[in-house]
Parts: sequence; structure tokens; C-alpha cells
Amino acid sequence: MKRGPRDAKGNLPPGPRGNVLLGSAVDLGRNSLKFLTRCAREYGDIVYLRFFNTPIVLLTHPNEIEYVLVKNPGNFVKSRDYRALKSVLGNGLLTNEGAEWQKQRKLVQPTFRHENTDRYADVMVLATTRMLDSWRGGETRDIHQQMMALTLDVVAQSLFGSDVSGHAGGVEQALAVLLNQFDGMAGLAFLLPEKLPLPSTLKFKRAVKQLDRIIYGIIHERRRTRKASKDLLEMLLLSQDAEGSTMSDEQLRDEVMTLFLAGHETTANALSWSWYLLAQHPDVEERLFEEIRAVLHGKTPTARDVGRLPYTEMIVKEAMRLYPPAWAVGRQAVKKFELAGFNFPAGTNIAILQWSTQRDPRFFPEPEKFDPERFSAESLRANPLPRFAYFPFGGGPRVCVGAGFAMMEAILLLATMAQRFRMTLVPNRKVKLLPSVTLRPRNGIQMVLHERRREAPVRGAAD
Ligand code: HEM
Repeated sequence: MKRGPRDAKGNLPPGPRGNVLLGSAVDLGRNSLKFLTRCAREYGDIVYLRFFNTPIVLLTHPNEIEYVLVKNPGNFVKSRDYRALKSVLGNGLLTNEGAEWQKQRKLVQPTFRHENTDRYADVMVLATTRMLDSWRGGETRDIHQQMMALTLDVVAQSLFGSDVSGHAGGVEQALAVLLNQFDGMAGLAFLLPEKLPLPSTLKFKRAVKQLDRIIYGIIHERRRTRKASKDLLEMLLLSQDAEGSTMSDEQLRDEVMTLFLAGHETTANALSWSWYLLAQHPDVEERLFEEIRAVLHGKTPTARDVGRLPYTEMIVKEAMRLYPPAWAVGRQAVKKFELAGFNFPAGTNIAILQWSTQRDPRFFPEPEKFDPERFSAESLRANPLPRFAYFPFGGGPRVCVGAGFAMMEAILLLATMAQRFRMTLVPNRKVKLLPSVTLRPRNGIQMVLHERRREAPVRGAAD
């Protein structure tokens, strides 16, 4: 067995003993979320376990999480599952490391500044209105499938503007193939041995090729025509570092592919879980509607309304606490390090779980309860949360570059939908969790749509 972390007396951190050969692989395979949370509650803030013969250290306390993500991020590279994603994302931000990542982050980050992303508010609301126009009261729909299509539409339009319109179907199909294949690897891939089985079926390769053709086609056309556009691609094309160098076509392709994948399923999950929770809490749903009515007066929202919908924002935050779209962050230590009295060898695999920490009763009383009030300004003032008790977007230098975009999108989409519809769950259809690369409903969420009476917009009232 490989060397694990030891304290001064030579003891390993506490953890499940597991099977001699398999370690905790069976428990992890059966229900990883339940098992990992049980480990955290039973053994404490640093847990040692094995997946076959690969040692894993589970960190669930905000202080230790902060150490890895913020205080010493240079010593921790991304875990193996990210390396597997390289077959699709190449050297995009999510999968890149070291000096090259730093250079790319400096080029991409300004694109996501508030003043640059506000312009996508209209794209977001328009895409939602288009979807709602096809909905009818009384219908049953898989809300997760709807949210996936909607957030893909938003990210595609934000990246490419109207250039993507002829390719929308091709992009959707190819991305669905890729996401399906990654499900095969599941979210525990970061625990797997070095030689990770990469998805390499013909279908997978074809999907990557198809997306490459579309993305490169748009990039080449832009460079050729020098057409000025107001989309993310334009900003990425113009982005320059201190030496004045810009991105190559290949780097642009990798960043665009990364934004496509990182930027749509996560937000779709946040919205699907919000609707799932709202359907079970009609009182919260009613208060949401009241806020929307009072602030928007029947008008569709704009970028300026985002900050005027605090309760909508609290709902999104609480949904992401209970069902974090990115439910785990994996890292591997480059060099040995010391933490909380233990010496950890180089190569230590670290699992940080939003899922477990964000349901820890020390930080969230009655942690299983859906209570958006936890995120009200008054509650946070009275009971400040430790940094990294809640971290749906990660933290430190590798924090989600699209966090502001995602929050604006989730608030605008939820408000636009809730203004016109409420939803109820189809009875006797159990919703199951799938902790894959993201945390999503295994077989979707079937919901019945109920149309609200349309209010005539009050002129000038929301301005
Ligand atoms: C609710 C929605 C979202 C959630 C919960 C989420 C969560 C995360 C998390 C936890 C990370 C850090 C991973 C790590 O440290 O290993 C991350 C990174 C990233 N996210 Fe998001 N994300 C969301 C939406 C978006 C959107 C809309 C975009 C872009 C359009 C985006 C682009 C990225 C990129 C490029 C990275 C890599 C950043 C880097 O390493 O420099 N994400 N995201």
C-alpha cells in the first residue's frame, strides 16, 4: 500500500478501515454522497480512506479547505479527473496548470468582469422568454432537460452571438454525447488509479470533432471578416497580456470549449434543484412570486434588477448549498506538507466536498432544511459563516471565473420563469441524485407546469 499521512506518533488520521484489497470502494460505489458524509460526521475533519489501494484524504473543515485552496494553492494541482477532461478541453482554464494557466487566467478573467457581462442579461431573459412561449399550463416536462437546453442556449449566444444560430442543434447533440460519456467516469474519477480509462469511443471522438469543426469555423470566420461583435469570443480575441500577445486559435478553441462545458450544466443544475425545492415549499415559492411582482411589476427583468431581487438570490444560494452543482473539488499535493499535526507525503490525493461541508450542522443548524433565510443580510450579520463553510464556486486563485455570470444568469432565469409559471412534482416519481462530474438528477425531474395569470406591465414602474 502507498504511504499515507502520519502524525508524530506514526498514526494515520482516523477513517473507515475498509476491505484489505478494495478499501472503501464498495461503500463509495453504493452511495458515495452518503458514505462520504458519514465518514466526515463519524471520524472528524480529516478522514483517511482508501479506494482500492489509492489513499485519499477527506478535508471537511473550512480551515483545512482554506489552507489547500487559498493559503497554499501552489502546492496542489488538480486531481486526475481534470486530467481526463483534457481530452476534450485541452489546455483551457479548468484543466491547465502552472505558469500557462496563470497567463490564460489573466487573459480570460477581464472578459467576465461585471461591466462586461451585464450585456448578456438581455440574451438570458430573451432565451428564457422564448422557452416559456413554448410552455403550456397543465403540461408535464422534464425540468432538468429544459434547464440544460436553456443554459446551453444562453452560453452559446453569449459566446458567439448570432454566429451560432445555424449550429445550435449540432452543438447541443455533440455536448450531450460528451456529458453522457463523462457520466461513465462518474464523479469519483479523482479517486481512480493513475491510468484513468479515458472515454475513447467512436461516438465520443466524433462529438469532439464536430464541436471542433463548429468552433474553429466561427473563429476563422471572425478573424477573416474582422466583424465587430459584442460577444465573449470577441473579447477573448481582443484580449492581450502585458507583452501585447493574444491567444492562438488552438488556445481560443480550448477556452471556448471549456466555457461551453463548465458554463452550462452547472447553472442548469442550480436551476433544476431550485425548482425541485420550490415545488416542495409553496410558502417560499409564494414569497418569491411576491418579490418578483413588487420589483418587476409585470415587466421582464434586466441587468439592473439583479441586485433588486434579494429573495430570488437567497433561494439560488440555498439551493446550491443543499445541492451544490460542483459537489467536490479534487487536488493532489505536489510536495509533502504538514497540516493539523499530520505529515502528508507528496502525491496525497485530497477530496474537498461542498456536499458534506455545506450540510455540516456546526455551520448550518437543521442542515437538511431548505431555508433561504439563512442567506439574508440579517442572518449573516447575526451568524457570520466561516469562509469555506459555503463555497459553491470553489475558492482561491482557481475560483470559478464565471461565478458572477452564473449568479446573474440563475437570478434572471428563475425570476423570468417564476413570473409566468409555478411547478409541482409529478407524484410518485422519485428524484435520484447522480454525483457525476456535476451533481444532477439521475433521470431528470418531471414537473407539471401551472401558468400564472399574466399581469399587464406597469409602464416605468420597474425603471
Ligand atoms: C452555478 C454555476 C456554476 C458553479 C456551481 C461553478 C462551480 C465552479 C467551481 C467549484 C470551480 C472550481 C473548480 C476547482 O477549483 O477545481 C469552477 C471553475 C471554473 N468555472 Fe465554474 N461554475 C459555475 C458556472 C460557470 C460559468 C457560467 C462559467 C463560464 C461561462 C464557468 C467557468 C468556469 C471556469 C473556466 C473554471 C476554471 C477556472 C480556473 O481554474 O481558472 N463556471 N466553477
